[in-house]
Amino acid sequence: MPDFGLRSNHDNKPYKTALRIVICLETVRTFLLSLFFLPSLFSADVTGKWVAEMNLPNGDKREQVYFLKQDGSTLTGGMRTQFGDEPFTDGAINGDELSFVMVNGDRRMTYKGKLEGDQLKITLQPPPGMGPGGPPPGGAGGGFRGMREMVAKRVSNDPSFTPPPPLPPPNLPELKALADNKLARTPPMGWNSWNLFARRIDDKTVREMADALVSSGMRDAGYVYLNIDDTWQGKRDANGVLQPNEKFPDMKALADYVHSKGLKIGIYSSPGPRTCAGFEGSYAHEEIDARTWAAWGFDYLKYDWCSAPRVYKPEQMRAAYQKMGEALRATGRPIIYSLCQYGQQNVGTWGALVGGNLWRTTGDIRDQWASMERIGFDQQTGLEKNAGPGRWNDPDMLEIGNGHMTTAEYQTHMSLWSMLASPLLAGNDVRNMTPEIKAILMNKEVIAVDQDKLGHQAAPVWKEGKLEVWARPLADGSRAVALFNRGDAPAKITARWSDAGVKGPAAVRDLWAHKDLGKFKDEFTAEVPSHGTVMLKVK
Ligand code: GLA
Repeated sequence: MPDFGLRSNHDNKPYKTALRIVICLETVRTFLLSLFFLPSLFSADVTGKWVAEMNLPNGDKREQVYFLKQDGSTLTGGMRTQFGDEPFTDGAINGDELSFVMVNGDRRMTYKGKLEGDQLKITLQPPPGMGPGGPPPGGAGGGFRGMREMVAKRVSNDPSFTPPPPLPPPNLPELKALADNKLARTPPMGWNSWNLFARRIDDKTVREMADALVSSGMRDAGYVYLNIDDTWQGKRDANGVLQPNEKFPDMKALADYVHSKGLKIGIYSSPGPRTCAGFEGSYAHEEIDARTWAAWGFDYLKYDWCSAPRVYKPEQMRAAYQKMGEALRATGRPIIYSLCQYGQQNVGTWGALVGGNLWRTTGDIRDQWASMERIGFDQQTGLEKNAGPGRWNDPDMLEIGNGHMTTAEYQTHMSLWSMLASPLLAGNDVRNMTPEIKAILMNKEVIAVDQDKLGHQAAPVWKEGKLEVWARPLADGSRAVALFNRGDAPAKITARWSDAGVKGPAAVRDLWAHKDLGKFKDEFTAEVPSHGTVMLKVK
């Protein structure tokens, strides 16, 4: 047996030394291990008010505020949403990771956080069916726009917050069919502040836009509604009358100014307690708000669902829209009523019955080919039966001139919206337009197709890969025919008269070249640039 030096006939010194070394190593090991587990045993308390700054896609910044109170593994508290400070549910904390759920109607948004040093990194998990891949119906901006990571810093150790006061219960009318208000016999045309200005719209800019709509020729081309979108609202006075905020000192004077230019003026609100941008909505104040807008002289209302799921069940949506439809009628003023609920619940089948003249069919458009293409080509087909004089599908406002599409793509945007008999609400800076953009927005021949009295929304009559031919009948017996190339290379496209419902031989006019091209017996072929359009009037 080998001698390890532990045995001695005289004393056990080597044995004791070895034992001491073992004990020592063991102590070091225990110490190191305890260091490793220490953070989870005594993890930092997240209690306090945390603030993250968020960059929005439109360049705006928004503060995200979290109120967190930690008690062992339980987390309670709330979050500042655009609808006010609201409690969360299902709060949990495990080591340096936490999670909680914000509930909006039937939608649950899960937030997950991780403590890293003095920062809290928070990500929003998409609710089921709302992944970054596809645009869901329902939800401003098409709902969830992908995972965002917010980095929050603790600004105070006090987690307390004040939830908004409780709201009165919904008080909705019995469903019925409102009579046609006789407005919007052709799709509304005008300008809206949201695409370009978002929150930065104010009295001065609206007046400048009014001047520019006139001086640029836009008004005379048909763009008469000057619509103020979200962020004009202030607080309600003691009588419940909604006041504008400091950006809009005098709404009546502003409406008078816009009217003095031969234009009409539009405003924006929500059936919910808050608008999408978090301003005061019309919930429980529908009649008084409609009266206020009528007294100021407004001619158009966009009514945006947004926070309404906080107070209404999905099946109450139609009644909530009818309530404002009735309130607008009761004012006696002709006011175009624009529904904005992103196409939920087959709105085209009931939008007109609640008094609506137009209704959004999708989430928000962006100034990008992919967004415009998806909304215009893919998400409108099949809805054409719901459209007609006084009742229009609204694929959202125009992005023409906002700078992120090519001239060919903007021509396609204008052609497609006109084929669709869509509202034409410009969203660009009309104070400052290039000749190309003016030529697109003010192409009288294309506008005439949009504004055709028949009000017949086009649909594709032929498709092959990325090439499409669309057609619609016009009031004078002719047809508008559009050859669209959605592909990445120029392509020859043939429009066959048999597909387009034309009896040949037919005279063809090119609505972008402003040229008569002669008579064609059975079909017409053109080379169409990538993402471009050839638009014809065929008789
Ligand atoms: C929603 C609408 C937009 C715009 C904004 C304003 O996103 O769909 O068109 O009105 O709200 O907050």
